[in-house]
Amino acid sequence: MSAREPKAVDIMILNAWYKVGFSEDFKAEVLQRHVICEKVLVFWRTAEGEVVGFDDRCCHKRMPISAGRFLEGGLVECPYHGLAFNSEGQCVKVPSAPGAPIPKRARLLPYKVIEQDGVVWVWPGDAEKIGDIRPPATPEIVSPDWERITGELHIKGNSILMIENALDITHFYPLHGNTIGQSADSNIEFDMTTGETRGCESVTVTRQVDDYPQSDDFADILTHKMADSYSIQTMVGPGIIIAGRTLWPAGGRKDNKDPKCLKNYHFLTPIDRRSHKYTYVVNMPKGQMSGRDPSVRAVDRAKELLSVVFAEDIWAIEMQQEMCELPDGDYREVLLKSDLPLAQGRKILDAMYQKEIGEHSI
Ligand code: FES
Ligand SMILES: [Fe+2]
Repeated sequence: MSAREPKAVDIMILNAWYKVGFSEDFKAEVLQRHVICEKVLVFWRTAEGEVVGFDDRCCHKRMPISAGRFLEGGLVECPYHGLAFNSEGQCVKVPSAPGAPIPKRARLLPYKVIEQDGVVWVWPGDAEKIGDIRPPATPEIVSPDWERITGELHIKGNSILMIENALDITHFYPLHGNTIGQSADSNIEFDMTTGETRGCESVTVTRQVDDYPQSDDFADILTHKMADSYSIQTMVGPGIIIAGRTLWPAGGRKDNKDPKCLKNYHFLTPIDRRSHKYTYVVNMPKGQMSGRDPSVRAVDRAKELLSVVFAEDIWAIEMQQEMCELPDGDYREVLLKSDLPLAQGRKILDAMYQKEIGEHSI
């Protein structure tokens, strides 16, 4: 990294789709406040079923609309002077001036929201820059053929540190050496490709190895100890990493014999440059059981395991964040061959960030 490139912790990209929550979190006519990319936003699901999002500041005196309440007809009333807004954000009632014309600009600032595959996404940046970009598909989240566990963590670190963590399995040892990590795993060759997913630049890293001893914990949640293994991680913009792993019994890949798999979604939603909300969803085919105890669902074992693994990741990321905040002076990072996907990810994110800054669009 040259001296002129921004550190990961300097970057916050607004022109991207970020997860706000899951569909089931949005009940009709309940106000929700979320801080995303330093913007305070209010969301609600209308009685008709659509999720809408706005700047949380009332257009009158900046009172948070999220502290308001619903009136008849799906209107939201500001708790200060009672201006009421419809689901398009337009003010339609001013109690202190009944009957007087309401200026068109008396409205809440809207944000683009998409609800798709059980996830509600927001674009906190310039809506004109959306073009053809759409959030990636997450079909397992709503599929009856898959079961899943989810968790949400508040991390005191820039979301890009988490992206780099999720793209890089060479940290499994030593960071996760007591659970999923084995030192030898870092030597497995990888392939890297770049591409586009629904209009957004992506980088994918895959690893394939046959007749290979898995860590006891992977063998527990994916059954096979001596296994043929395939793993994949894809970063799609700054908002999501999609990861998967499949194990077959040694020699079984060719004929797809007894595959056991998981598909993970890592959602990264920046709160600001120094913290983010991290949501994980681990999906497994329905009925996939623990290798160690076939009476226990594999996803439940994964949940136990991940509570340990994520605590280790957070420990590392929060310390990295502290160190990133020190002035660099003569310090420069040294990237290794195994950091190639991460470096490519940075390149994509740096370019997105520089474009935003250059356009002064936000
Ligand atoms: S601040 Fe909202 S009505 Fe006055
Ligand atoms: Fe990790």
